[in-house]
Amino acid sequence: TVPPYRHGAGAAVAFSAAFLCAGQPFAAQPIQQHRRRRYAINAPATMLLDWLRSEGLTGTKEGCAEGDCGACTVAVRRHGKPVAALNACIMPIALAHGAHVTTVEAVEHPIKDALVEHHGSQCGFCTPGFVMVVAALPADTPTDRCSLEDALAGNLCRCGAYEGIYAAVGAACRGEHDEPGAMARVDAEVKVTGAAVYTADVFPAGGLHAVIVRSPIAAADVGPTPMDAAPWVVDLLGDHRSVVYAGQPIAAIAAYSLAEARRLAADFPLELTPRPFVTDPEAAKADGAPEVHAGKAGRKAAPNAAEGAAFPARWSGNVRGPISVRFRGITANRRIEKARSNGDVGLAELEVGTGVQLHTSFEPHCTVADWSDPEKLVMWTSTQALNHVHEELAEHYGLDPNAIEVHADFVGGGFGAKLGVTPDMHGAIQLSRMSRRPVRLVLDRREELTATGNRPGSSSEISLLVGDDGSFEAMVMEGEAYGGSAINGAYGMLAALTYRRAPKLTRDRDILTNTPPGTPFRGPGGPTAAWALESAVDQAAHQTGRDPIELRRTLDRNPKRLALYDWALGLDVWRSRPTTGADTGRFRRGVGVAAANWVYNLDPATEIEVAVRDGRLTVSTATQDMGTGSKTVLANAVAEVFEVDQGDVVVRMGLADGERPHGPVSGGSRTTPSIWSTTVEAAEKLKAEIGGSPTSEHEGMHARVKRAKDSRRALRLTLPTSIEVGRGFSGAVHVSEVEVDTLTGKVRVLTVFGGIAVGRIHSLPTARNQCEGSIIQGIGLALYEQQVIDPHTGLTLTSNLEDYRIPQLGDTPEITIHFHEEGWDHVPGGGVGLGEVATISPAASVGNAIFNATGWRPTHLPIRPDRVVEALR
Ligand code: FES
Ligand code: FES
Repeated sequence: TVPPYRHGAGAAVAFSAAFLCAGQPFAAQPIQQHRRRRYAINAPATMLLDWLRSEGLTGTKEGCAEGDCGACTVAVRRHGKPVAALNACIMPIALAHGAHVTTVEAVEHPIKDALVEHHGSQCGFCTPGFVMVVAALPADTPTDRCSLEDALAGNLCRCGAYEGIYAAVGAACRGEHDEPGAMARVDAEVKVTGAAVYTADVFPAGGLHAVIVRSPIAAADVGPTPMDAAPWVVDLLGDHRSVVYAGQPIAAIAAYSLAEARRLAADFPLELTPRPFVTDPEAAKADGAPEVHAGKAGRKAAPNAAEGAAFPARWSGNVRGPISVRFRGITANRRIEKARSNGDVGLAELEVGTGVQLHTSFEPHCTVADWSDPEKLVMWTSTQALNHVHEELAEHYGLDPNAIEVHADFVGGGFGAKLGVTPDMHGAIQLSRMSRRPVRLVLDRREELTATGNRPGSSSEISLLVGDDGSFEAMVMEGEAYGGSAINGAYGMLAALTYRRAPKLTRDRDILTNTPPGTPFRGPGGPTAAWALESAVDQAAHQTGRDPIELRRTLDRNPKRLALYDWALGLDVWRSRPTTGADTGRFRRGVGVAAANWVYNLDPATEIEVAVRDGRLTVSTATQDMGTGSKTVLANAVAEVFEVDQGDVVVRMGLADGERPHGPVSGGSRTTPSIWSTTVEAAEKLKAEIGGSPTSEHEGMHARVKRAKDSRRALRLTLPTSIEVGRGFSGAVHVSEVEVDTLTGKVRVLTVFGGIAVGRIHSLPTARNQCEGSIIQGIGLALYEQQVIDPHTGLTLTSNLEDYRIPQLGDTPEITIHFHEEGWDHVPGGGVGLGEVATISPAASVGNAIFNATGWRPTHLPIRPDRVVEALR
């Protein structure tokens, strides 16, 4: 049973909503007195959430402001009524009149300790909401998985920490966590208590509120920005004065209040000359279609959907490419054509497609900048590229690196969308420079779901030929990437690099449209390539009567993945797999498999300092933790060397100031392989100098170390943001079990087994968290997530969390993660990153499981119920 709800001391408050509307401190007045001031209730609706946060109770988060995500949950108790968990973002404070409201800061409940111990928190942005819902559950709430799904259905977690949340809620309800448990994630406690301060929680005294003025239409020439239309205005468009999608930033403005800034933005006199536009890729390819990026200057300004530099390619209207990858490409074509004319059973040919997926980080893009001192720019920003942002902004604004501080103590998710300098940064910085005041610019959920990036959609034609003995005979793939107004959505190379050498030819093109641009998204191109390739391999296995895992064993040479195939073949769920399409009942069970391949990335410039500061071991570097557990990895590395508890190590990250050592970008799975071995080396060096454990006489001693080179030469392909491609490929194999309701078309993923081959795991719980979250996001890609654009206006229709559906607790399968830890001895530390490789194959394994269950092969993502019903009808 759920323990009784208890109020703690501190933030449990009783107040008069009417009085709050008048903008006065609630504590000074007794409630009865304010009931008479009813006029104030008619003031513009102020939501309870806004008031709580403006009072400094920032543990209560704003994830959507529309009642969809649960991040703002508070417990409300009225006289004589039971406690209710309510969304503060949609509760006008007038309705809270006389109620006792308890926020996460004041709750005393075992769920907090349980979430810490069971790793129910990754980035932590959603965590206070879960705490509040569980704390307010009635004592007799059943604790089986289905009941908890219902009880927590109003709360979402984009990191996909649901497995940990299930475990934590169950344990708390069984009374197993009345005392604090062991802490394995160094920042978990401040996340569950609401004490963690994210950029969105920074409200500087005397600061201005800023918003971005965006294009309301999909294509236009833009006149000069009217700089006198608001007290503080900056232009974000620059010299190239055209917009190519609805929602594109044009200017940023600031005012004394957010409401005033929004009013000014709504009335902002934009001078737009509309141009014809195109939102549909097929129409964009047609002769005479309006060109998204016209002329040399327009094409040069096209945003990049990937992290790496774009390969040079030809343009023809809205088509860019093809970009080809050939391993004996002529032979590949010839063999496919011959097999086609012979009707060869080993030739699998599919036309497949994927939808556009949105990152949906729960902390939106946001920046607080303070350039009131002309000599010093101090800013907080939600970024996964702290050091890179620091360097780029210093250069852009001509600042000495020591004259700019960039803070990102806690980051509420990123998934690739926060890898560079973004318009909110420039807007806040320039407005602060102009006004000589701190400026806070936080995107709302609609902006976040419209204009901050996406995983490009795709369409692929793939032909895969296997021989009678299961040999890899040939593969040809033609692909199109739909990255909106961005280029470089290429994914063919990733398909070509998977499996053994064979005649292969991939060619893909960008099809440009007047829709929001793509950006890197966890394993950029990987899930897209896997959806095509792994569906084709599965189809070839089916046509040739082979076990799909056994066929992959034959096609593959990667020893790490071969070990994972052995593991997968031994799973009970695989051994009990039904014959494809044999089931004819309403509910059909199926099991599918898919494999993943990913490059090994590192940041060769990474530096770590381990020091004795204030009598404690302290590890420092200018990187960030966006929920992946990098702080824990750093602490573990020092603790291991000094043989102390993880809690004895102070971790200093989340700041780039020109002094802190260079830290890696959290992207491309490069953080852990860059920081682990470097930290170990620095700690060993310091330990050797002080000859054991630190004492007060070692105060100030430190060791600063740059990342060591691999024992085998890296590929020397150095890309932007200090990333280097190392030698070797990581691998993953996912086995998913689904149940398909053939009447409603609903697919339920029951269990997923994820095998991950990335070498040594340095922090097991956080690594497992990452892999579980990858599976949840893969299920979202497979079944639910799809950006929808209005073809008539170019506006994004899926701009809230009801219309853009991400997985919730009830969509979570039972997940088992298996790590294969061998094969990376040439890498310092013996292991590489896993955030990307773990993301690539879950969606394809779900698709293959549906084929196994029904005999119908899903080809287009998401596999919506209507598609299932139509196909099975
Ligand atoms: Fe209130 Fe999302 S912020 S439900
Ligand atoms: Fe839930 Fe990040 S931990 S959104």
